[in-house]
Amino acid sequence: MPILLEGLSRLEYRGYDSAGVALQKSGKFDLVKRQGRVGELRAALPKRNAATAGIGHTRWATHGEPSDVNAHPHCDDTGKIVIVHNGIVENAQEHREGLEARGHSFASDTDSEVLAVLIAEAYAVDEDLAAAVRRALQSVAGTYGIAVMHCDRPGELIVGRNGSPVIIGVGDKEMFVASDVSALVPYTRQVVHLEDGEIATLSSKSYEIQDLHATVTDRPVALIDAEAVLATKGDHAHFTLKEIHEQPDALRRVMQGRLNHRFNTAHFGGLNLEPRELMAFKRIKILGCGSAYISGTIGASMIERLARLPAEAESAAEFRYRNPIIDPDTLYFAVSQSGETYDTLTAVQEIQRKGGTVLGVVNVVGSTIARQCGAGMYLHAGPEVAVVSTKTFTNTLAAFALFALYLGRMRDVSPAEGERVIEALEALPAQMEAVIERAEDFHDIAKRYANFDHAYFIGRCEGFGLAQEGALKLKEISYLHAEAYAASELKHGPLALIDPQTPTFAIVPNDDLVKKNASTIAEIRTRKGPVVAIAQSDEIEAEVDDLVVVPISGHWLTDSIMLLLPLQFIAYFVALERGCDVDKPRNLAKSVTVE
Ligand code: AGP
Repeated sequence: MPILLEGLSRLEYRGYDSAGVALQKSGKFDLVKRQGRVGELRAALPKRNAATAGIGHTRWATHGEPSDVNAHPHCDDTGKIVIVHNGIVENAQEHREGLEARGHSFASDTDSEVLAVLIAEAYAVDEDLAAAVRRALQSVAGTYGIAVMHCDRPGELIVGRNGSPVIIGVGDKEMFVASDVSALVPYTRQVVHLEDGEIATLSSKSYEIQDLHATVTDRPVALIDAEAVLATKGDHAHFTLKEIHEQPDALRRVMQGRLNHRFNTAHFGGLNLEPRELMAFKRIKILGCGSAYISGTIGASMIERLARLPAEAESAAEFRYRNPIIDPDTLYFAVSQSGETYDTLTAVQEIQRKGGTVLGVVNVVGSTIARQCGAGMYLHAGPEVAVVSTKTFTNTLAAFALFALYLGRMRDVSPAEGERVIEALEALPAQMEAVIERAEDFHDIAKRYANFDHAYFIGRCEGFGLAQEGALKLKEISYLHAEAYAASELKHGPLALIDPQTPTFAIVPNDDLVKKNASTIAEIRTRKGPVVAIAQSDEIEAEVDDLVVVPISGHWLTDSIMLLLPLQFIAYFVALERGCDVDKPRNLAKSVTVE
């Protein structure tokens, strides 16, 4: 029981709305489930329990509201089989109707309980639990990472994976299973990653992996880098704040070993593409979800502007559903902090199935997307625990800046220009440190805007990407409604909503478009809309209500990274002022392993 609770606590950062455990003891299960936090589950459990096997889960509601009864684990209607399930059974309703017609009943609204009953029905055929799980899964459409126990089979645990991560932890006369290595590190460093379509049978001493046709497969044991997994808040009030502060060091890591001063270019170890192959691509397309997608839009803009190769970004979730044309002349990138985002993973598989080349831009080493791509750029941001991405966003921009330099130097970028980019990149961490020192200034601004209900974020080119990220951050952690617009679009509609109660955060880099941005700001102020500018000079000071100036980074390619920092701080401090649960915002999960 303590092991299960510790594991669930370690996965809390991923976001959830209920938690529960099933403990196997003397041929029966003790099942305890609670809506709310793991702390509430802990309080509901007895202090001691002699169970030697058990399963637990933190649920993020998909089918059925968050409640005690919908919390996992779920039993079949005889109470003999118990499961936890991460994912979605798409044909649950169809199965539910069939099972009800055959006399089964359900306690919850969940798709997972349907899966438990399906397994129980299959078990009745030959009392072989692994075979029953296999048969049930063959009839299921959707995604799953599951763990299953039967009360008459003490010490036997069946796990299976399709689309949701399952990792076996190999201990000394004990076995563990989790959906994320962070739950395993206190107990073992040896792990085995299950692949889609595989089922494993575990006892305390051994494990055997089979595919859905019962053919035994062999998977290598990998070693976890425990330091990269374990993370604490240190002296910071929240992981979000800590991770914002970690950005200068994270930047140093993403650049480490990747700068080539001799040829004023970048160098990557894991692209697995010869320069000749890279030069043959005619376009670049970057895919990701949420902040990963937004970082891709800025990355695409960096590549296109510096390397002069057409580049664009698209939401991986949209891409995968629209039967995309996969062009062999396009180099695809899949961006993901967790490396487990289902929509991004599926987009990668769609590209590969159609013969395209896709590289991963991933933070978590050995994650599913990293393994599926097999090549790419790791972000080296270190563990990101807060639900909102901060340092991984920064490192994604830096990784694309490095890639733009690498590709640009193969194409038209001169050695002198390459040198200027490298100098700007190398100067960035210290410049960021200087901005971080001014955190309290951002707090003062946040206090002035924390009580508004709506806000706009505007920018042009990369600045529009930053506006999108600023708005997303604010929405996610402060629940303040924020919309991002390309500054040039404002007069095409949204200007109608500008009034004294709708502040606008304007991203104003010191580029050729400063005057255009100043005109847009004037249009807002004429309508009495308050304006906060995040700029690189005080040129527009008289024209705004609040001004944040960050240093000019040394090259336009790296300016976005500097301009991002105040937006992160403002979102954090607004959330703090509004009393929000900054690290674990409501309704959100860190890894979205469902569709
Ligand atoms: C960012 O703050 C969000 N938590 C979210 O948009 C996130 O970026 C998205 O879900 C993608 O996650 P990934 O990077 O792990 O693939």
